[in-house]
Amino acid sequence: MNLRIPGPTTVPDEVAQAGAAPMINHRGREFFEMIARTTEGVKKVYQTTNDVMTLTASGTGAMESAIVNLMAPGDEVLVISIGEFGDRLINLVKVYGGKGTELKFDQGLAADLNQIEVAFKGNANIRLVLVTHNETSTGVTQPILPALAKLVHERDGAILMVDAISSLSSVPVKTDEWDLDVVLSGSQKGWMTAPGLAFVSVNERAWAKIDANPQPRFYFDLRRHQKSAESGQTPWTPAVSIWFQLDKSLTMMFAEGMDNVYARHHRLASMTRNGVKAMGLSLLATEGIESDTVTAIRLPEGIDGQKLLNVAQDKFDTVFAGGQGSLRGKIIRFGHLGWVHEPDITAGLDALRGSLAELGYKG
Ligand SMILES: Cc1ncc(COP(=O)(O)O)c(C=O)c1O
Repeated sequence: MNLRIPGPTTVPDEVAQAGAAPMINHRGREFFEMIARTTEGVKKVYQTTNDVMTLTASGTGAMESAIVNLMAPGDEVLVISIGEFGDRLINLVKVYGGKGTELKFDQGLAADLNQIEVAFKGNANIRLVLVTHNETSTGVTQPILPALAKLVHERDGAILMVDAISSLSSVPVKTDEWDLDVVLSGSQKGWMTAPGLAFVSVNERAWAKIDANPQPRFYFDLRRHQKSAESGQTPWTPAVSIWFQLDKSLTMMFAEGMDNVYARHHRLASMTRNGVKAMGLSLLATEGIESDTVTAIRLPEGIDGQKLLNVAQDKFDTVFAGGQGSLRGKIIRFGHLGWVHEPDITAGLDALRGSLAELGYKG
């Protein structure tokens, strides 16, 4: 099967096999050594010397951990949304009683820095800004992070939290150079590992806020996670088998070289975009901000998105993702992140072309 969704992504055989290793004591020497090794590796991918914690959770768990550690009920928060995953941040802020200023941009666009500046400067109480780096629902990568971090840090104690779940490890995210306070990612995306682990980086500025935050928290208390990690453990039982996989996938990524990993993602994303356009289709993302991990493709008039997904799977053994929320049925999403190579893209494009033809599209 050609799994062309934006996560979970294909797990290489070596990584899958690594996950089948016999269980170990999660409070023993082997785990101690593994957590030290993987944390160092994950930090390298994050391009950071900040603390990075690995949680046993999906990406949404990392998002929730950021909210409960950085925000208390009543806190003023600026949430920037360019799609479904930005909206998830808005929901989290609401659920935990934050006072969210919502800044929403149309599907296919990146956030506009001028509008962010107006919203941020218009409310002197905002000390937390939340943003999605790569919006998986629309196939857009935001180019604004370094400038946004600079803007946020003009205000004393203000923190920028970045959801880089579907970008980090596939496209460069320069956590330290861009001065990003808290950055999230998830194992089932570019990391070539099964779902179940999530990463959270925290810098000094963010630790100060986390320490001062009166919000109760338990499973996702990042202070507990960091304290445990320093003694080679996790506070709660970790997903050990997925950790074995991560250990292996990091080795593979470094053997390829991160610059080569990024170049491969860019090359395959361009190949996907060009192939799609050659079929006469258009992309949802505005030109210049298209994601190198997922391409959102507008469907021609009269083509039902759900039917297309079914035909692609049944006749071409290829799995694409549908649209989310208001985009359901109107787009499909073609994932090209993680363990992906030219033949996967060629086969994916052939499957898309064939499925459209089955549904009567003449191109
Ligand atoms: C940008 C982004 N944020 C958050 C999430 C949520 O992660 P999970 O589904 O692992 O909880 C995803 C997953 O698709 C994502 O792509």
